[in-house]
Amino acid sequence: MFPIHRPRRLRSHPQLRRMVRENIVTTNDLIYPLFAVPGEGIAQEVKSMPGVYQLSIDKIVEEAKEVYDLGIPSIILFGIPDDKDGEATGAWHDCGIVQKATTAVKEAVPDLIVMVDTCLCEYTNHGHCGYLEVGDLTGRVLNDPTLELLGKTAVSQAKAGADIIAPSGMMDGFVQAIRAALDKAGYQDLPIMSYAAKYASAYYGPFRDAAESAPQFGDRRTYQMDPANGREALKEIELDIAEGADMLMVKPALAYMDIIWRVKEATHLPVAAYNVSGEYSMVKAGALNGWIDEEKVVMETLTAFKRSGADLILTYHAKDAARWLAN
Ligand code: PBG
Ligand code: ZN
Repeated sequence: MFPIHRPRRLRSHPQLRRMVRENIVTTNDLIYPLFAVPGEGIAQEVKSMPGVYQLSIDKIVEEAKEVYDLGIPSIILFGIPDDKDGEATGAWHDCGIVQKATTAVKEAVPDLIVMVDTCLCEYTNHGHCGYLEVGDLTGRVLNDPTLELLGKTAVSQAKAGADIIAPSGMMDGFVQAIRAALDKAGYQDLPIMSYAAKYASAYYGPFRDAAESAPQFGDRRTYQMDPANGREALKEIELDIAEGADMLMVKPALAYMDIIWRVKEATHLPVAAYNVSGEYSMVKAGALNGWIDEEKVVMETLTAFKRSGADLILTYHAKDAARWLAN
């Protein structure tokens, strides 16, 4: 008649709950994205991402110190250059915005791990992640010529002092191309975190405001993955592992936790989840309206990423989360 099994027994006291808790987020798991712009003294809030700023290098350095003091081990840098062109010169130039920001941060905060996003969309005048055929208005990026530029970009980022290269362009063979270019330039020991399973997602909308990288025409569906596909993510990670990736990323995170789980089951490499801009903006909008409890919602979400198998979480909530975790 009566229940024999009473799972509520183990929920009856906070200490008991602590003892049987399966997953916890720690500050160690967090990676904080930052957007570097040319100039000095600039902190321009991104309209669609309250609390996220485009920062000039002096401000990036201040921010990096704060991040480090909060105990967050790593940042990922994105750059918004002064000039954009067809060859994405700003991406691979040794004096590019990200290269300069990387060097400045490593000088000021040597123990902060600086990860750099390796892609071309912030630097091309059409906003696509690689070379286009002359006259192309669909965004069908030319794969192999783009690989050469990505290799060059990674090497310049390595020279600038980057600790981890994070290629995000979803070109075929991009991990192999970058690994080969890095090795040839003497950076055999520099790890690659591959954006291995990256979907063509509407959740990147606010990021494209922040990075000024929206495609001017067409979309990214000929290179980023179809959100309807799960098995295909396993193919993508298999290839990236074979090509020499050291860590794998799934992106976005919230609507793709099944993918995080499947990737984690399929590999022994560390898995990162990118809690992307649109996911951040939705939570912020709800919180600013007083509709949700921001701290509770964010911590629940981050914990869910851990439960789904993420070892690392790239999130715009990282600084807040670190503060909440310290209390
Ligand atoms: C560049 C890149 C994007 C993001 C990270 N790297 C945008 C895109 O692919 O259009 C998105 C991050 C976010 O939304 O927070 N390829
Ligand atoms: Zn891109």
